[in-house]
Amino acid sequence: MEYPTIGLVHIPVLAEEVLNYLQPQSGHIILDGTVGNGGHAMKIMEKIQPRGLLIGIDKDREILQVAKQTLSKTEGTFKLYHADYSEVDEVLHQAGVDKVNGVLLDLGASSVQFDQAERGFSFTKEGPLDMRMDRSASGTAQDLIRRLSERELETVLKKYGEERWSRRIARAVQREEREAGITSTRQLAAVVERVVPRGKSKIHPATRVFQALRIAVNKELESLEVFLGKIHNYMMTGARIVIISFHSLEDRIVKKKFIERANQEVFKILTKKPVTPCDAEMEKNVRCRSAKLRAAERS
Ligand SMILES: C[S@@+](CC[C@H](N)C(=O)[O-])C[C@H]1O[C@@H](n2cnc3c(N)ncnc32)[C@H](O)[C@@H]1O
Repeated sequence: MEYPTIGLVHIPVLAEEVLNYLQPQSGHIILDGTVGNGGHAMKIMEKIQPRGLLIGIDKDREILQVAKQTLSKTEGTFKLYHADYSEVDEVLHQAGVDKVNGVLLDLGASSVQFDQAERGFSFTKEGPLDMRMDRSASGTAQDLIRRLSERELETVLKKYGEERWSRRIARAVQREEREAGITSTRQLAAVVERVVPRGKSKIHPATRVFQALRIAVNKELESLEVFLGKIHNYMMTGARIVIISFHSLEDRIVKKKFIERANQEVFKILTKKPVTPCDAEMEKNVRCRSAKLRAAERS
């Protein structure tokens, strides 16, 4: 399936800051491990011409079509790969590249994925409980709920959603699953709404549950750990790495690995504190509210 591009918008987050930290220049080879719609990639491509190369990875084959359309509008060379960014070794090998001048990860799901009801990422839209970024991979969120015991589901919600009511929710979800079978996003959200006390929180009670399931379905933290374990090997001296995360679990992993590499004198950290969007950007783009950018330079 190809995405209709009209009406589906993903505004690149912290776009100016990405360029400031990445410092893409003419002739550079830049790896965008989460190319998505190609929003950041397009801005990078404008800076690296002539003779530059943008290597874009995404595990969502359909969204790569959007990236292709976007990047085809620019001058210059790009190569797109359907892969997990943790498979960076194979991708660079296929691209015929040993080392790059810059690396970008803009983590999580794209607004385009959230906005497509049939992808099942959003509790505000009725859709199947899918949540796979890579629809050729096995294991949807529905499969996960069916496979996990109550205790295991509780652990997933606690670990990946930092969900305070994880036990209660896990019990209610597994009961509903046994009695009626949970097949849709709204059905799951309704179960959560029923058991979570309505406090003062401004976020929807199902937010953390959906985050947790999405992280588990896509093995998001595992990919990040694997990638950070080896990406320095593919960065030239002076190359920059920029990572935008959207929740504390991801940010903690990035922060910890950057500090570890800095102690090994492999990275120089460029952001003592994470960079966050300014008020004006937050007003324009709700999705960027929790964004945190960290950057480092290969020593
Ligand atoms: C926030 S969006 C990126 C948006 C992009 N920077 C732009 O400006 O258009 C994140 C993208 O990363 C992809 N993605 C997430 N985890 C991935 C992984 N482990 N490997 C490859 N792609 C991944 C998602 O499918 C999604 O398209």
